[in-house]
Amino acid sequence: MSQDDLHVYTQRPAHSREDWTVDQNWDNFTQDEHEMWDHLFARQSKMLPGRACRAFMQGIDVLKLEKPGIPDYAILNERLIAATGWQVVAVPGLVPDDVFFDHLANRRFPAGNFIRKPHQLDYLQEPDIFHDVFGHVPMLADPVFADYMQAYGKGGLRSLEYDALDHLARLYWYTVEFGLIKEDGELRIYGAGIVSSYGESIFALDDGSPNRIMFDLQRIMRTEYRIDDYQQNYFVIESLDDLLKATVETDFGPLYRGLEQLPDIKIADLIDTDIILHRGSQKYAQLKT
Ligand code: PHE
Repeated sequence: MSQDDLHVYTQRPAHSREDWTVDQNWDNFTQDEHEMWDHLFARQSKMLPGRACRAFMQGIDVLKLEKPGIPDYAILNERLIAATGWQVVAVPGLVPDDVFFDHLANRRFPAGNFIRKPHQLDYLQEPDIFHDVFGHVPMLADPVFADYMQAYGKGGLRSLEYDALDHLARLYWYTVEFGLIKEDGELRIYGAGIVSSYGESIFALDDGSPNRIMFDLQRIMRTEYRIDDYQQNYFVIESLDDLLKATVETDFGPLYRGLEQLPDIKIADLIDTDIILHRGSQKYAQLKT
């Protein structure tokens, strides 16, 4: 895909509102686009039981996402608002950081208003409707995760004042996008980047390559990540309550200042304080280079 095809805007497109939202224009989706959703939905929902965490599976049920076709946000939002007060809003593509955080802080999840093309079935560089809605929205129906995401939005706005966005972004990456959780002694997925990917839903849990390390806020904020392939680290939380507690009850101000003195951690490196559940062989990443 060439850069030109990406839905990245540095300036607000003329057809969008001040907060960058657009109408979903559900009627404009083609039959092919609805079928793309159905295909991806069928493939993921078949493999996720026993892999995705309880909150995610419940979210799919509560929101009735199994209905065929790209979800109509007017209908989806009725259910989501009833569950946690969150709603999905359509945006043209990636939006500026402050705009994104402001939406989250107000319990609105911005979703890109396009769906991947057949040649992007397994991989695309930017979030589409399937990633944003199938991957993110079920978790937003969980009351604890719903609070976490709102707190993250507020924290995001605050991080801009500390010039600490790069550190906070890593927390999003290693929790909201690629987080694993312990459930009944086993690992399960809650990260949207994993549950919306067929290959990574298997890789993250079963492959010997990546590290699986217990969640550690400061460690995560120091850890580099990759956006072009399966992760080399996954961080594991004990529970959603734990995640909320560890983040909401900590003032990130001093943490950010401390991080300025500490070096970043290279992507696959382990450190002394890590509680390692699985020491990755990193075979997969090595084969690719
Ligand atoms: N406690 C964080 C702060 O002081 C805010 C936050 C909460 C950030 C939850 C991320 C997730 O900035």
